[in-house]
Amino acid sequence: MKVFINKRIPETGITMLTEAGLEIISPEKENMSHEEWLGYCKKADAILSIGNDFKYDKKFFEACPNIKAIALYSVGFDHVDIREATQRHIPVGNTPDVLSRATSDVAFLLMQAVARRASYNFQKVKDGNWDKFDPLHALGQELYGKTLGIFGLGRIGFEMAKKSGNAFDMNIIYHNRHHNEEAERELGATYVSFEELVANSDVLSVHANFTAEHKNLFNRSVFEKMKTNAIFINTARGGFQDEKDLYTALVEETIWGAGLDVTNPEPMSPDHPILKLSNVCVLPHIGSATIEARNGMSRLAAENIIAFSRGKKMRHCANP
Ligand code: DGY
Repeated sequence: MKVFINKRIPETGITMLTEAGLEIISPEKENMSHEEWLGYCKKADAILSIGNDFKYDKKFFEACPNIKAIALYSVGFDHVDIREATQRHIPVGNTPDVLSRATSDVAFLLMQAVARRASYNFQKVKDGNWDKFDPLHALGQELYGKTLGIFGLGRIGFEMAKKSGNAFDMNIIYHNRHHNEEAERELGATYVSFEELVANSDVLSVHANFTAEHKNLFNRSVFEKMKTNAIFINTARGGFQDEKDLYTALVEETIWGAGLDVTNPEPMSPDHPILKLSNVCVLPHIGSATIEARNGMSRLAAENIIAFSRGKKMRHCANP
């Protein structure tokens, strides 16, 4: 079986694939045009797919009828038409669990960075504007005992809730498609409606899977219903937020601030007005960027491909 891998990944997964006797197709260069990428896909039976530059949609599956399996090097699968893949009996593997701690660490980091105005203060140091002690300047807010609202309480949301509860004794509320009984039992989390989540969160952190119905869910009318001290955190997908409306909410101080590891589009333009604001911290989609998580993703994506090559079910699959 020939497996196309479109970018370099940690060696651990490559070794597993090679030891399993699979043939690896690697591109000559990593930044490919759509045509170049498609050319490689046409030669393969399976893809170990890194990044979401290209979409796996009906057109793709028609153009590459040989593709029998896709193993994503990500937990998110919003760039794959899962319904289309399922109709064609193509399993789409993904890599949950192994990145939950790393990604929730970034949400936790952003929450504190925004609460304590880290970007603003760091910029002052870089600009040579280190102020003398001023009792009234650059004041942040403490997170102790505040309410953390989780939108999408899956594995990453659970980790974020757990560390925020442990570190800051935060009260956890959440909104999800289903009740998360483990979170209710272990973290004392309370299920609330979306409206209650928006109105009562001091920090609202997005962790759901992104689907078309979520596009611009966090828009002007939602920001206007949030508390004025609220911090909006997004480490899931940039499509959740209407960035024009978020900008307005931040400028007009409708909310306290925002911490984003994901934007729409990515990369965010360096001229984007949001980047000029002092109540924002933006990171370049580094949620899973730890040695441990990326090794885990490499192993799990390889394991998914190997399972498929042996006629078995992938360990983690996005198909229903
Ligand atoms: C994921 O795993 O979905 C990360 O966001 C990387 O795309």
